[in-house]
Amino acid sequence: MLHFVIVAVLVALSTFGLGSYFASGALLPEAASQQSLVIDWLFGVHGWLVAFFFSLIVVFLLYSVIVFRRRPGEQGDGAYITGNHQLEIIWTLIPLAIVLWLAVIGASTLADVERRDPNALVVDVYAAQWSWTFEYENGAITTDLVLPVNQQVLLRLHSNDVIHSFYVPQFRVKQDVLPGGPEFTRELRITPTQEGEFKIQCAELCGQLHYDMLADVMVVSEAEYLVWLDQAAGDCEGTDEQCGQRWANQFGCLACHSLDGSVILAPSWLGIAGSEEELTDGSTVLVDAEYLHRSIVDPNAQIVAGFQPNIMPQDFEERMTEEQIQQVIAFILSLGE
Ligand code: CUA
Repeated sequence: MLHFVIVAVLVALSTFGLGSYFASGALLPEAASQQSLVIDWLFGVHGWLVAFFFSLIVVFLLYSVIVFRRRPGEQGDGAYITGNHQLEIIWTLIPLAIVLWLAVIGASTLADVERRDPNALVVDVYAAQWSWTFEYENGAITTDLVLPVNQQVLLRLHSNDVIHSFYVPQFRVKQDVLPGGPEFTRELRITPTQEGEFKIQCAELCGQLHYDMLADVMVVSEAEYLVWLDQAAGDCEGTDEQCGQRWANQFGCLACHSLDGSVILAPSWLGIAGSEEELTDGSTVLVDAEYLHRSIVDPNAQIVAGFQPNIMPQDFEERMTEEQIQQVIAFILSLGE
């Protein structure tokens, strides 16, 4: 009887220590969305269960190994025990009940996470190797995601090339972003609850620069958001070259085309205008406005020697206005010799 009391007390202490550590959130990043609250609660429940069963097994095992070890001079084996139906029924029914209960609370947590707010703000997210672009309902296109606090946002996720995954650890929820057109568009709902700056990390291995496929998420007050949204959508006021640089930034061109002569995955724009470039088929081409336009709307038509086709997205003609394309060309020409 004393053995049972000691084991029970040790199991209780160990469960309490480990369980409260798991459930405290010390292992998790800050929780910054409504969805993260229910997910962390579920994580805590599992933490307590894991703590209990781990303690039960390990305490019982260690106690037996130490207290019931064979002492010097003792002979023979321990008692040989065959099956015990009563125990087997108990250790089948209890786990069955726990698993069913986990299924119920898992389903209800999932329902909470996916709860729809009909007034949710809609943002289209375009993932491409290796950048994120966000398009708002008023036409604003940005490379950072800005969201108002305490309002649900519905992200519609599109990929231009391979599978990516949208993940902000502080929001907890994660969703693969699939290529293949509207049929494969996936949705993710997030209600940020903390103002601040977070990072989107692509969570699906998607090629050479996967590790660098990051974007900022800024969660701001409703008032700040509305001011920002108006500005983001506004027409570009500036020279063609200035606006071209802004579009090059917004549409992610600069992820692969450097401005300083270094080669990332595509020709640098420094000094390219006016130069003669050798193509993969051995011919040469003069880099003028006409060639630049063709390389933006139909990038695979003429690939510069030493570079790969299909790296550059094929859909800029749909995503950019003709004016924006012309301004980007003006910007590239301004970087020429
Ligand atoms: Cu996109 Cu990894």
